[in-house]
Amino acid sequence: MNREQAWALVTEYTASDSLRRHMLAVEAAMRAYARYFGEDEELWGVVGLLHDFDYEKYPDMENGGDPLAGSRILRERGVDEVIIRAILSHGYERTGVMPESLLEKTLVAVDDLKIGRRHPLASRKGCG
Ligand SMILES: [Fe+2]
Repeated sequence: MNREQAWALVTEYTASDSLRRHMLAVEAAMRAYARYFGEDEELWGVVGLLHDFDYEKYPDMENGGDPLAGSRILRERGVDEVIIRAILSHGYERTGVMPESLLEKTLVAVDDLKIGRRHPLASRKGCG
């Protein structure tokens, strides 16, 4: 999946400007870290751009959501498993997929910076 396809998916599933800005900000940070680590900037950027694309329609389980919905959508569209696994691992508390690769660990770290918006978990008592 290239950036144009990823952005089309983001805008198809996410209407919120703040959530779109968050994904764009995480994309920018992921691209910067890919350059820093000498990794695939396009791949890391697409992972950052897509990482919350399903959150608006399928929020946290506490709110009736489904943490695996996004992965099913991506698989139906033939998205590479490297991208799907990275996105699943950034919600490891909910998906059980632990971040292992540098790509996956960087996504968790970047998302935790809460750039672009308040983190989805920040509304929990005692967070954020
Ligand atoms: Fe996020």
